[in-house]
Amino acid sequence: MTTPTTVTKSNGAVLEAAGVTMRFGGLTAVRAVDLTVSPGEIVGLIGPNGAGKTTFFNCLTGLYTPTEGTVRYKGTRLSPKPHLVTQAGVARTFQNIRLFANMTVLENVLVGRHTRTKEGLWSALLRGPGFKKAERGSEARATELLEFTGLAAKRDHLARNLPYGEQRKLEIARALASEPGLLLLDEPTAGMNPQETRATQDLVLAIRDQGTAVLVIEHDMRFIFNLCDRVAVLVQGEKLIEGTADVVQADERVVAAYLGTPFEGAPGAEEAAEVDAAEAQAVGTRTTGTQAVDTQAAGTGAVGTQAAETQPPGTHADGTQAAGTQAAETRAAGTRAADETRPAPDHAPDEDAPNGDAR
Ligand SMILES: Nc1ncnc2c1ncn2[C@@H]1O[C@H](COP(=O)(O)OP(=O)(O)OP(=O)(O)O)[C@@H](O)[C@H]1O
Ligand SMILES: [Mg+2]
Repeated sequence: MTTPTTVTKSNGAVLEAAGVTMRFGGLTAVRAVDLTVSPGEIVGLIGPNGAGKTTFFNCLTGLYTPTEGTVRYKGTRLSPKPHLVTQAGVARTFQNIRLFANMTVLENVLVGRHTRTKEGLWSALLRGPGFKKAERGSEARATELLEFTGLAAKRDHLARNLPYGEQRKLEIARALASEPGLLLLDEPTAGMNPQETRATQDLVLAIRDQGTAVLVIEHDMRFIFNLCDRVAVLVQGEKLIEGTADVVQADERVVAAYLGTPFEGAPGAEEAAEVDAAEAQAVGTRTTGTQAVDTQAAGTGAVGTQAAETQPPGTHADGTQAAGTQAAETRAAGTRAADETRPAPDHAPDEDAPNGDAR
């Protein structure tokens, strides 16, 4: 046999994630997600806050070991170890910027090259003699990458002194320094102004044109629909739909998912229907009163599942309608709750302090 099995399995895909599931205790953050990225493609991954997008990236890049499922890069199964994933050819940027704040722009990119040199990460960080030698070899490439990302003029600035948008660009430059065949971008335009966002769009297109496939998470829909050949939508950990920008935009379930309104076949819809049925049945067997209606009114304003659980059954004046409303409210409130605990998609730079995660 001349063709290795692994290559046969890849179907020519750069990335093949199959049945990826990630559970945290009782919470299933990602459920049986399949996703393929082909050579030369830019694929978008969208979904409301808390949908599991970053968790999915963490499963792809070895930060998490998926509870179930497999991840293959160019036909070879990836080890769940970040440095091995990077070495294999998958690079990423982080939703919360992770730069070496007190190193220069150039040094950050040089550190990103450590998987492509014989010198290890510690040698890069401690800048030992071996690293300095390797550095000279890497510097030409790093300089090229700084030009490519528009950061050449800032090469000697400390990373922490860069404006937020440029820190995001530097993360991309550093990721590219590992010469990846697949680049994963987690909200690359968060905190950017419209000009910076457009420049990032051009940058991602140029990255693709140079032969690196891209999988990108973004909340900026214009950015996603302008850029991506294909878009997958995650909702409550499950892939709801995948298709071209036109197909995804035309699907009313996607809009409903973002608004937090219920739709047929939505993840969790079955459970919600069971709650509705139980509520309706309870109402049928009990009496109701004014006070009970007040309880319901208060309950619908409360947040999430807890409201559904703590509200005594049979306290509705109009059980079916009230339960239905409540079910909708539960999901909508769940979405809001996630919104409130996370930085807004378009948050201002200082809301998500630059280098908050910097090591
Ligand atoms: N390490 C963890 N331990 C427990 N729960 C986690 C962990 N990481 C993520 N989660 C939960 O998994 C769910 C998905 O979170 P994730 O960060 O992947 O969402 P997201 O789609 O990236 O959202 P956003 O658009 O806000 O970045 C959330 O409910 C989150 O609280
Ligand atoms: Mg995220």
